[in-house]
Order: sequence, then structure tokens, then C-alpha cells
Amino acid sequence: MKEMLVNGSRLAYRDEGTGKPLLLIHAFPLDHTVWEHQFEVFSRARRVLLPDLPGFGRSEPRADVVTMERFADDLAAMLASLEIDEPVTVGGISMGGYIAFAFRRKYPQLTGALLLCDTRAKADTPANAALRLKAAEQFLGEGMAAAAEEMPSKFLSPKTLAERPDVVESIRSVIRRTSPAGAAAANRGMARRPDMEEELPRIDVPTLVIVGEDDRISPPEEMALIASRIPGARFETIPEAGHLSPLENPAAFNATTAGFLA
Ligand code: MLT
Repeated sequence: MKEMLVNGSRLAYRDEGTGKPLLLIHAFPLDHTVWEHQFEVFSRARRVLLPDLPGFGRSEPRADVVTMERFADDLAAMLASLEIDEPVTVGGISMGGYIAFAFRRKYPQLTGALLLCDTRAKADTPANAALRLKAAEQFLGEGMAAAAEEMPSKFLSPKTLAERPDVVESIRSVIRRTSPAGAAAANRGMARRPDMEEELPRIDVPTLVIVGEDDRISPPEEMALIASRIPGARFETIPEAGHLSPLENPAAFNATTAGFLA
């Protein structure tokens, strides 16, 4: 991976290919490898940028609370360091989608298109936000082992869980390696993220909304509603996939996305 200093902290990222930039933002509490099946394929026709967000993967944790807007600022700073000032396609999965919404709102001049995967526009309910703050304390006090045990069964489809022990184990090992400080800061940031539902009709760039058919965290019905409120957005469902559709069914995900990216 390459590295750069962004707002004073070390940020690790992959950057390959030439052509229109495609920025892919990972989920929580994972790293850029959630996009591993897209990187090589998409970088044949695009310049693909895969950051580890601050506090995840190989990127340094920073503040005690990192809001979605702050992550968006880091990504804009990364693009500036790479001298990219044209509009990019911003793709985000789950927390990456929350960041993509924040990025488009704050940096419309840099947002050429949106790829919203397995994500939500709603803010947390007060009860959810409270659970996130509690989880943040647990990460700091006890580390990531419990999350690594529990999260795959919430994220992955029944088929992936039954038939793809390699995927289950790779998710577990990424979560085990995640910095508790980074995960706590992002969880606190997600707990205070604003509701983006009012923003949806204002999105005026080509948008693809994509969801695993078995996603229980951001279910297809909720994502269909997001797509219906974004003018001209396309909505697609990925079979045999849960919350991590690009990783669980990369063939279907890539085939569905290829037309949009072209
Ligand atoms: C994710 O996959 O990024 C998380 O499910 C997001 C969240 O906790 O809301």
C-alpha cells in the first residue's frame, strides 16, 4: 500500500489504473479489502483509489470522535494531495455510504457520480446511538475480539456463512486487527451522523443504489426507498449476498456495476 500524511496522520491507500477516478470507501469496522474483488477489475478502465479510513487497516487513528464529515474531509485532502481536482465517482459501502453522502454534500464539485452499497440514509435512533456509544467503550476496554466473533453472522448472508468459511475468516481477521481506538471514534461519529433523507431529492449526479438480497442491516426495501427518492437513480439487488455484497457475490456485483461505471 502507499502512504501519505493527511491532516497530520498517516493514511494508507491503494491507487492503481488510469482514467476517471473511482474512490471506494469501506465499511465498519473493516478496511479497504472489502473491495478486493473490485480493485483489479475496475482499475482496468478507471483510476481506483482504495483508502483505509483513519483508524482502520493501516491508517493511524486520530481523534476520539470522527464524524462522517471529518472522514469526508480526509478523503478530499487525499484527493488534493494526489492532485485530483476533477469530479470522481464516490462509492461507499455501509459506513462508507454514510461518508459518501457527507462527501457529496460538502464537496459537490468533486462528486461526479455515487455508488451507494448496503447503506442507510436515516440517522440512528436515540436507542441505536446509545448502543454505539456503549460499544465504543467496549472496544476500548476489551478490544475487538467479541466484535470479530459476532459481526460476521450479522453481516453475511446465510449462504456465505454456510459455504464460504474463507470469507467469514477474512472478515474476522480484519476486525481482530482493527484498532479499538479507531473503531470507537468512528462508532461515536456514526452515532451523531445527521439524517440524510432530506438530502436525497437534491442529489443530482448519476447514482446506483445496490444491495445484497439478504442484507439485514440495510434491507433491500429501505435501499429501494433511498433509490426512489434520488432523481434518476438505478436500484439493483445482488443475489446470494448480505450486507457485504461486493465481497460476497463479486461476480454479480461487478457485472451490475460495470454498466454504470462505463
Ligand atoms: C458497516 O458495515 O459499516 C456498519 O454496519 C455500519 C453501521 O454500523 O451502521
